[in-house]
Amino acid sequence: MPNLDEYLQTHADRFEQELCELLRIPSVSADPQHKGDVRRAGEWLAAQLQKIGLPAEVIDTDGHPLVYAQGPEVPGAPTALVYGHFDVQPVEPLDQWTRQPFEPAVAEGNVYARGASDDKGQLLTHIKSLETWLAVERRLPVNIKVLLEGEEEVGSESLVKYLAANREALACDCIVISDSGQFAPGQPAITCGLRGIAYYELRLRGPCRDLHSGSFGGTVTNPANALSRILASLIDDKGVVQIPGFYDDVVPLSDAERKSLAELPFDEAEYMKEVGVKQLAGEAGYTTLERRWARPTFDLCGLTSGYQGEGAKTVLPSRASAKLSFRLVANQDPDKITQSLRKHLDRVCPPGIEMELIAHQGSGGVLVSQDSPYMKAASRAIEQAFGVAPFLIREGGSIPVVGKFAEILQADVLLLGWGQDDDNTHAPNEKFCLADFHRGIKASTRLWEELAKLTK
Ligand code: BES
Ligand code: ZN
Repeated sequence: MPNLDEYLQTHADRFEQELCELLRIPSVSADPQHKGDVRRAGEWLAAQLQKIGLPAEVIDTDGHPLVYAQGPEVPGAPTALVYGHFDVQPVEPLDQWTRQPFEPAVAEGNVYARGASDDKGQLLTHIKSLETWLAVERRLPVNIKVLLEGEEEVGSESLVKYLAANREALACDCIVISDSGQFAPGQPAITCGLRGIAYYELRLRGPCRDLHSGSFGGTVTNPANALSRILASLIDDKGVVQIPGFYDDVVPLSDAERKSLAELPFDEAEYMKEVGVKQLAGEAGYTTLERRWARPTFDLCGLTSGYQGEGAKTVLPSRASAKLSFRLVANQDPDKITQSLRKHLDRVCPPGIEMELIAHQGSGGVLVSQDSPYMKAASRAIEQAFGVAPFLIREGGSIPVVGKFAEILQADVLLLGWGQDDDNTHAPNEKFCLADFHRGIKASTRLWEELAKLTK
């Protein structure tokens, strides 16, 4: 496709500048103070879609807005729905960023900013590939629907409602999502499984105010002590979650699945170096990739109580709280996990403590079919752009709406990730490799054509 490739080259710098424009909008969905910014990011994308010739609208919801656009009708061709999210995770701890999170900077072939990889840079690859087709060929090879949201990082509640209410309008053959990673630099991948998530906040209240720990210590339950005990009861030292019933619905990995994970050239020493540890840990009896992608886990994501400032302060805190994240695998139901967790907490909560459990995000794990014609088309497209065929992998992260897409729209999901493990997603100094940005755009241009070859 020489004409398409020429356009990609000629406009590469502008594509990067436009990515930086989007990255300058601090669209942190978890923080109510940024509500207007999430909307601005949606409006920016709707304007981009309009500019390339796709009528687009910003759709209001009870939460953050959605963006929807549709391509020209291509009779007889399949329909692909492109999904992505324009919201980002909070930037804290700010002092660990080398540059400002919303002032994108290019260095060593990467763009650094919150959302660079997750997901603004990845989602833009599809919009730029649509632009390229429309500008060069004045047509699209397949029917395209674009559906973007501003709530992925907080659970996609509004989008799930919208899907259920607009099932017919969103009908499609496959759903294209770039919000995951490659296997390694130079080795692209298609993700065939994602973990689900069940996320909670646990709040404990003890005495009515902070108390002098000398005058009062030993007479009341300290919420920080209570929290430590409760949290320790959730997982044992072999990495096994201790909530009765937690593993009830887990479908064990088949021998064939274990074999295919074992065949991936995963380098443990390199992984340890990458994450900066001298030893790996996790559930006994499973390999690192199995534990990372295909086993449920419990991780504490936040912990707050008592004095956090410099030096010592002898205070018995009146409150303590924690953010709990359970990663789930396919078939585990987040609502059932909530019930089991509540029961367990009621059992282990010590006297003198008032406990509140707030359930945040919940979504099930997903597995996608590995040998659909769409998957093969995507594999060919990626090979054309990256020069090597993609591995079929799983990922440990969650995209809450993916299970609902499959269930409500009954379409095949294609998880074509352009990110890398060292992109620092959700962490300080997030980055996205610009060469991957351009290869992603190219792969996307080829994808529409490969999908067009599939007769409906
Ligand atoms: N892009 C990630 C999902 C992801 C991460 C896929 C790593 C593959 C590998 C997505 O934006 C994300 O972070 N999702 C959240 C969802 C949660 C907040 C409900 C996650 O997994 O923590
Ligand atoms: Zn994310």
